[in-house]
Amino acid sequence: MNNDNNMSILLVDDDQALLRLLTIRLEQQGYQIISTDDGAKALQLLQQFPVDVVISDLRMPNIDGMMLFDQIKASFPTLPVILITAHGTIQDAIAATKLGMYGFITKPIDHQELQKILSSIATQKPLENESHWAKNIITRNDKMLSMLDKAGRIALRDVSVLITGASGTGKEVLAQAIHSASPRAKHPFIAINCGAIPENLLESELFGHTKGAFTGAVLASPGLFKEADGGTLFLDEIGDMPMSLQVKLLRALQEQQIRPVGSSQSVNIDVRVISATHKDLQQAMHEHQFREDLYYRLNVVNFTLPPLQERSDDIPLLARELLRQSAAKHQVNVIAFSDDAIQLLVTSNWPGNVRQLVNVIEQCVALAETTIIPKHLVEQALSANRSTWPNLSDARDAFEHTYLRKLLNMTDGNVTRAAFLAGRNRSDLHKLLKKHELDAANFRQM
Ligand SMILES: Nc1ncnc2c1ncn2[C@@H]1O[C@H](COP(=O)(O)OP(=O)(O)OP(=O)(O)O)[C@@H](O)[C@H]1O
Ligand SMILES: [Mg+2]
Repeated sequence: MNNDNNMSILLVDDDQALLRLLTIRLEQQGYQIISTDDGAKALQLLQQFPVDVVISDLRMPNIDGMMLFDQIKASFPTLPVILITAHGTIQDAIAATKLGMYGFITKPIDHQELQKILSSIATQKPLENESHWAKNIITRNDKMLSMLDKAGRIALRDVSVLITGASGTGKEVLAQAIHSASPRAKHPFIAINCGAIPENLLESELFGHTKGAFTGAVLASPGLFKEADGGTLFLDEIGDMPMSLQVKLLRALQEQQIRPVGSSQSVNIDVRVISATHKDLQQAMHEHQFREDLYYRLNVVNFTLPPLQERSDDIPLLARELLRQSAAKHQVNVIAFSDDAIQLLVTSNWPGNVRQLVNVIEQCVALAETTIIPKHLVEQALSANRSTWPNLSDARDAFEHTYLRKLLNMTDGNVTRAAFLAGRNRSDLHKLLKKHELDAANFRQM
């Protein structure tokens, strides 16, 4: 790249007066300027005159700044683009920086600001947008953008957040983004999957334990609440938290204090809690599997991530961006999907949501033999990823269900015998049967 003020810039703006002004200004500073008032023309110019930077207006007739950016990205993936707009909404800014746009400035143009962005391009220094809180969330979907808008505002307030949504929709990335946008960003973000840890260990994982508190507690442990001090604790799969612990969690949140297992002393905590679940907690409450008071404590603000299929307008963007990331990671020269390949991605079912899309694209990149990924490769990757891997709690539920059916078959629906074989008491077993909507009577031989 050229040295700072030797850089060549393509300016695109339908406002001709502004175009002239900006051209003069930047030429005075030593930049070489090509300009046009038309997006389509801009693309032609780029083919003829390679430049170092594109500065484009957002709102233009015909091809707008976003469309232009998309097309530039497809043909010149590394060319930095700076967007200008008179309508600087937060949403535009979020969308722009998240898409990998280099920078974003609003009219009236602050020349110092622009100069800062241009010098940062010249020195190849990543700009703030690299550390933008929502950088890991790729989207341009209206619903998602307004959700991010809300997330950015909510992040500043220290309220509990509950994130719901199907598996793979991005609950954890959203939780991380909220943490990054919050005043707690410099402190730890600690995630724990409440469904993956045995009930008897979960308490000490969360609240810590003293030395010798139980067999195996050779050393004292502060617990995750304490480790997350000053930061954010992400309680994933909160719907799987056992009732006994729900009471303790509620108390910890109300009192901002925890008591390590084996200790008689409480310790103060300063933690923001974000929780997530793919379960329907309302239903869990009805079934007395989840405490109502805890629910209201955790769900001060709710975000529900839509399934990928409901935001299929995001698929081309996600596909392109994930492809770029995967190709860079594996250092392979794969640039794009063919049009019919994209079409197939858009119209496919995505039961595993974004996670499944990530997998499909990784596989395409791994198997690609050409720089453009053809449709048949996508077909192949899709059929290999057709069924999604169930998450642990779904798998456990499915196992439990099958187990209980076999147990009832074996015991002819005799609950006392079934409980004995399962090593549970009758009331526990009744609860389990209720949870799985199994009626012992149906298993009795007439
Ligand atoms: N909008 C997005 N842009 C880019 N990547 C995304 C987006 N949403 C999700 N991902 C990616 O998809 C994968 C799944 O996301 P995440 O783990 O946040 O989902 P989840 O809702 O927590 O899933 P689960 O319920 O299965 O735990 C991750 O690799 C994540 O980086
Ligand atoms: Mg998750």
